[in-house]
Amino acid sequence: MTDQNLAIIVLAAGQGTRMKSAVPKLLHPLAGAPIVAHVLATARALEAVHIVAVVRHERDLVATVVERELPGTIIVDQDEIPGTGRAVEQALAALPADFDGDVLVLNGDVPLLNADTLAAFLEQHRADAAEASVLSAVYDDPTGYGRVVRDAAGLFDRIVEQKDASAEERAIAEINAGIYAFGAAALRDQLANLTTDNAQGEKYLTDVIGLLRAAGSEVEAVPVSEPWLVAGINDRAQLSETAARLNALIVRGWQLNGVTIEDPATTWIDLAVRIEPDVTVRPGTQLKGATLIATGAIVGPDTTLVDCEIGENAEVKRTDATLAVVGAGASVGPFSFLRPGTVLGADGKIGAFVETKNANIGEGSKVPHLSYIGDATIGEHSNVGAGSITANYDGVNKHRTEIGSHVRTGSHGVFVAPVRIGDGVYTGAGTVVRKDVPAGALAVNVAPQRNIEGWVQAHRAGTAAAEAADAAEASGPAAD
Ligand code: UD1
Ligand code: CA
Repeated sequence: MTDQNLAIIVLAAGQGTRMKSAVPKLLHPLAGAPIVAHVLATARALEAVHIVAVVRHERDLVATVVERELPGTIIVDQDEIPGTGRAVEQALAALPADFDGDVLVLNGDVPLLNADTLAAFLEQHRADAAEASVLSAVYDDPTGYGRVVRDAAGLFDRIVEQKDASAEERAIAEINAGIYAFGAAALRDQLANLTTDNAQGEKYLTDVIGLLRAAGSEVEAVPVSEPWLVAGINDRAQLSETAARLNALIVRGWQLNGVTIEDPATTWIDLAVRIEPDVTVRPGTQLKGATLIATGAIVGPDTTLVDCEIGENAEVKRTDATLAVVGAGASVGPFSFLRPGTVLGADGKIGAFVETKNANIGEGSKVPHLSYIGDATIGEHSNVGAGSITANYDGVNKHRTEIGSHVRTGSHGVFVAPVRIGDGVYTGAGTVVRKDVPAGALAVNVAPQRNIEGWVQAHRAGTAAAEAADAAEASGPAAD
């Protein structure tokens, strides 16, 4: 049910300088989704009547992601006045003038915070009738964060930013998590009083706390139960720490759902992946995008699957696959490269050192060794010989190879597309198939072998090969 008294502001305008990146900080991926998408998903769960996102740096890129992830979000452009205070001031101005409920402010770069924690925080803010509440955490290393300054009685007094803090204040371990609940009216009043008179020349949202306190309002800092919940991402070290934390949560979630994950430390699973019970994930595996794995499948070791579908009881080992579908009971790997559009039927096989692309390989069909199968259709229960290549590209266009059912192709075959091989066909080893082959035919086109006797001794006299040939002839009659 929509909470008519709740508006959420997501701060997403900052530059993210510390990332040192051409990509806006909030669009760096975390478990397969942009950082800001995690914050938007949490915002959505709280069912606020208004959600505003403030953008500025790389505004179009960020706004596009916000609109995609949470349609209906009000996008507000921050002007040239910098700081989180200015961002909130402009966001507030975009709400209906008579909105008088609670305003929850979320930092776009604090992605692990979940809706349950925020709902409890909001509940406490409301129960205590505070004008401002701040989520805080106690960190062993609080460097970079704003510090929560308490008075002699231990009451929350104000927030001081790292860059403005005295040595004594920097020693404070309780930090401002950048998550706030405000009464809309009190917030509106105090935002008007902010100045840029500080080390960064910005309007700090955090100064609203001190102003409210000075005006006699009730403000409180609410420590979060688990400090990692409010970890902010400012640089790439924090990005990888946060990613590892989130991954550990995701892995554990699947383990508790009945998935065997042999080595959580080397298994990376994106948020959108779905895994059925009794799947086994072996070490060194990355499951990315919208990958789906059905029950009984064994994936890994050392396998990367991006947007793949793996069928029941299939086995995929030491494989790199993107946008591929592997049928029930099928087997892939080791050392296979499945590119987009690969569909392997039930009980099929793609074996060692095989690359596939836009390839539909039917039920029970096998490409076991050392092959490239691209732009091809293979029927059911066919076997493609070791070292086969579909020559799909004529330098200008790509063409298809169609191979029927119950076909046996010889080793080292080349299929020069476009070409069709009928049902039940055999091809000889080393055949270059340039013409269609009708059902039931044996196709061969390799020139008959000629043995030119004595050629090595005549043309390579004095070499080790010639001497070996001489020795072999001396020791017995040459084979005819
Ligand atoms: C901010 C807090 C700090 C807190 C920390 C928690 C302020 C002044 N400081 O510091 O007390 O400990 O978060 O993570 O608020 N943004 C805008 N417009 C701007 C500047 C920033 O929308 O003009 C957005 C950023 O995109 C980001 C968030 O606000 O999502 C926080 O900005 P950032 O520059 O990372 O603030 P911190 O220095 O981390
Ligand atoms: Ca930050």
